[in-house]
Amino acid sequence: MSMKVLYGTSSPKLGVRVADALDKNAFAVEHRTFPDGEQYVRIPTDIKGEDVIFIQSTSSDSAILETFFVLDALRENGAGRITLVIPYFGYGRQDKVFVEGEAVSSRTIMRILGNLSDSLITVDIHAPHVFEWYGKKAGNIIPYRSIAKKLGEMGVDFILSPDTGALHRARSVADIMGVPFDHLDKTRLSGTEVEMAEKSLDVNGKRVAIVDDIISTGGTIARASDMLKRSGAEKVYAVCTHGLFIGPAIERLTKATDGFMSTDTIESEYSKISVAKEIAEAIKRSGNRNL
Ligand code: R5P
Repeated sequence: MSMKVLYGTSSPKLGVRVADALDKNAFAVEHRTFPDGEQYVRIPTDIKGEDVIFIQSTSSDSAILETFFVLDALRENGAGRITLVIPYFGYGRQDKVFVEGEAVSSRTIMRILGNLSDSLITVDIHAPHVFEWYGKKAGNIIPYRSIAKKLGEMGVDFILSPDTGALHRARSVADIMGVPFDHLDKTRLSGTEVEMAEKSLDVNGKRVAIVDDIISTGGTIARASDMLKRSGAEKVYAVCTHGLFIGPAIERLTKATDGFMSTDTIESEYSKISVAKEIAEAIKRSGNRNL
């Protein structure tokens, strides 16, 4: 018995990189869309009795549905243990009831995934407590080392967290790099607007990177960058794990920063850091028998 690595339509480059890091071949799941928008998937290789790693960011509704179809097809075709790798878990921010009557979308998706796979690895998931609804072995990795390495190469000498929620990420990256860090205090006003409490930052002449889990509309980064520049920062970069880059994001980031980038959990031209090695290490640590 061996192990096979497959990937879906939202993670083609990362899927191949993870397979390379595991010294395995990568198989793209066959995928087509019918004229009415319905999806067709097919497992392209014999997986009977084999442990399978399936890599797919659930960054769109169609990617979520594709994931359900693939996992069910893997099981029906006789796969052994199925390890699901979700580099970016969509709906991760709807992890609780904020207003009475709301659906907790993270819970719905996790419950279904728990029925269709045997273990789960996510990257920098917004709220790891959603694993309770998966109900099986699950782990989350945060790519501190890959981010720190890239920022070190760029000569960054100060790390800023845009809010206290992301402070652990900034602290860990700063510790690895051996540079100072600080944080701002953010209040969200709406889906696209945020407010930052004024704070004097010790960044005069520094090359600062703002490090966050997600960049969505870029509002958070724009406000944080403004404060950094007023505090005398020489350069301001923005780095995130998951680059959603929605609506005005690219324009905002281009104006507000000296450069911005994400990892390859959501693949785009701005994916300048790969999390493949960290995913491969997590897969090895998870005790897959056939590695
Ligand atoms: C919020 O909790 C997240 O950590 C990010 O700060 C947020 O999603 C960024 O959103 P935006 O780019 O729209 O400000």
